Amino acid sequence: MAPRLWTALYALSFGHAAVAAPQLAPRATGSLDTWLASETTVARQGILDNIGSSGTYAASVKPGIIIASPSTDSPDYYYTWTRDSALTMKVLIDQFKNGDTSLLTVIEEYISSQAYIQTVSNPSGSLSSGGLGEPKFNIDETAYTGSWGRPQRDGPALRATALIAFGQWLIMLQSNGYTTQATNIVWPIVRNDLSYVAQNWNSSGYDLWEEVSGESFFTTAVQHRALVEGSKFASQVGSSCSYCDSQAPQVLCFLQSFWTGSYTLANFGSSRTGKDANTLLGSIHTFDPEAACDDTTFQPCSSRALANHKVVTDSFRSVYTVNSGIAEGTAVSVGRYPEDSYYNGNPWYLCTMAAAELLYDALYQWNKIGSLTINSVSLAFFQDMYSSAATGTYSSSSATYSTIVSAVKTYADGYMSIVEKYAMTNGSMSEQFSKSDGSQLSARDLTWSYAALISANNRRNSIVPAAWGETSASSVPATCVATSATGTYSTATSTSWPATLTSVSGATTTTTSATTTATGTTTSTSTTKTTTTATSTTSCTTPTAVAVTFDLIATTYYGENIKIAGSISQLGDWDTDNAIALSAEDYTSSDNLWFVDIDLPAGTSFEYKYIRVESDGSIEWESDPNRSYTVPAACATTAVTESDTWR
Ligand SMILES: *[C@@H]1O[C@H](CO)[C@@H](O)[C@H](O)[C@H]1NC(C)=O
Ligand SMILES: *[C@@H]1O[C@H](CO)[C@@H](O)[C@H](O)[C@H]1NC(C)=O
Ligand SMILES: *[C@@H]1O[C@H](CO)[C@@H](O)[C@H](O)[C@H]1NC(C)=O
Repeated sequence: MAPRLWTALYALSFGHAAVAAPQLAPRATGSLDTWLASETTVARQGILDNIGSSGTYAASVKPGIIIASPSTDSPDYYYTWTRDSALTMKVLIDQFKNGDTSLLTVIEEYISSQAYIQTVSNPSGSLSSGGLGEPKFNIDETAYTGSWGRPQRDGPALRATALIAFGQWLIMLQSNGYTTQATNIVWPIVRNDLSYVAQNWNSSGYDLWEEVSGESFFTTAVQHRALVEGSKFASQVGSSCSYCDSQAPQVLCFLQSFWTGSYTLANFGSSRTGKDANTLLGSIHTFDPEAACDDTTFQPCSSRALANHKVVTDSFRSVYTVNSGIAEGTAVSVGRYPEDSYYNGNPWYLCTMAAAELLYDALYQWNKIGSLTINSVSLAFFQDMYSSAATGTYSSSSATYSTIVSAVKTYADGYMSIVEKYAMTNGSMSEQFSKSDGSQLSARDLTWSYAALISANNRRNSIVPAAWGETSASSVPATCVATSATGTYSTATSTSWPATLTSVSGATTTTTSATTTATGTTTSTSTTKTTTTATSTTSCTTPTAVAVTFDLIATTYYGENIKIAGSISQLGDWDTDNAIALSAEDYTSSDNLWFVDIDLPAGTSFEYKYIRVESDGSIEWESDPNRSYTVPAACATTAVTESDTWR
């Protein structure tokens, strides 16, 4: 969501005093792990409260329509924005895929609502004449006809990305017959959005903050991603997307022009510095867990993204009182852009968490790649946290690597701790918090703030979304050209979800389980998938146990051993005598890998640490805080890997 143009004017004319907002004194920061464990529940509920028509604040809102905030006045955010809704729904779909199966109904209702809303003619046009670029609609799915910063061309791309994530889940279960739903319900909506992107990416529009008319980094980055995964999804449903294929490389080509040499410019078409959380958001929403640290796609671990992270976050150090005296390399409150004057210009929860999430993404990528590289572009970023940082590539087995990743983790956690400090004591988060005292400002219970909390927390726990195909879409054409392509627009008419979709049995699990259907019959299943015919309220049978592989990079000496201890009985209830030993079978001088496979009950949350056991039996614990982990409880997820580095 965003600063609504008219409210921006309102805030400018009447000043801060005119703004009524809930106020609550910031409180002392406790254990971040503990807070996040409860805040993720508050955030999930905060999102559901804002979705029609079962949400607490959305009873009169059409089913599946997501309001930006329950606030109807000063500011009035009681509308549905295509961007905010898509970003939120992507988080819910990823949660669903990770086992939160009760979200299925709201996901289906969202998809059906978007099929309809695509057809609503509005001031930006009709379905095939630009209407998909309309930024917001009324809660009854009618067009908003007041003046506004339109069109906004990120919305269709983000909606395609969210729907593709669900479509791919349907296809994953294809032998249960849900490729039909991916093909008949999801693909026609996605195809309209991809057509819009292919046709309009090279035309100017308003940025995600709804203020700048021009070309925006965030918009271009998410458009590239959507076209790349859109092409793959098309082939998965037996179709193709030639307009995706022809345009995606050119969108990537244009994306390069936002790099200034030292930071990423947020917009062309603005007189500001261009330092803006727009660019942090662009990197986290195009993060691909399988990607290298590619500069061309501004991956979170790329030199460009890290250098830009420093420039953007540093730009807020001197403009907010709450940041005063905080040195570079230590987390600060982050707003949209330093020149911001909306509500007098304050930090935003979602921008502060984007600064954290980008670093968690980078940590995931370095760990997966097995090394990190510092070059002249990213050197200053690293020196903030590790003053003797020097250019070079550091293998994950090196002491320098361990020192740096631990400093980056601490830095990232610092941003989350700021959010903990300035959230309300009951966990509510509005849009902004005051730059002078951290109290809540602007729209209350902002849906996007809650979505940002869940995704940042997931990345912190190395829970990452599916890859979108960056690895085959990062090479930039030699010449950029101004171009576009015409796609196919048609009303997505199929929106009725089969009742059986809610009773899929675990897809490819080999575990033996029993499924009780709504009619009370018990079906025994052994090996491979089974579809029950009766309607049940749960979406699938999740495996009862999941084989979790704990991979730990730890440099050890001959005679030293590594064990894992934690808060559940399987990990010895913190008793080091009952801790589980890791194996050094795959340990080499260049890959200091210890690992163990442990069967754990699906859905279990626990805390843990690794311990080093010396040959004389003495024990060294990892440094604080405790690590935390939740075993996935998803259909078909029977084995997962948690990758850690000794700290
Ligand atoms: C269109 O693409 C060309 C080539 O990349 C670029 O120079 C131009 O600025 C783009 N215009 C818009 C409005 O995106
Ligand atoms: C927290 O308290 C505020 C102010 O009383 C209220 O508006 C909000 O709904 C509460 N949030 C939760 C999650 O209970
Ligand atoms: C880690 O967990 C143990 C056992 O519950 C607890 O005593 C300790 O305080 C925790 N450490 C931190 C830093 O929270």
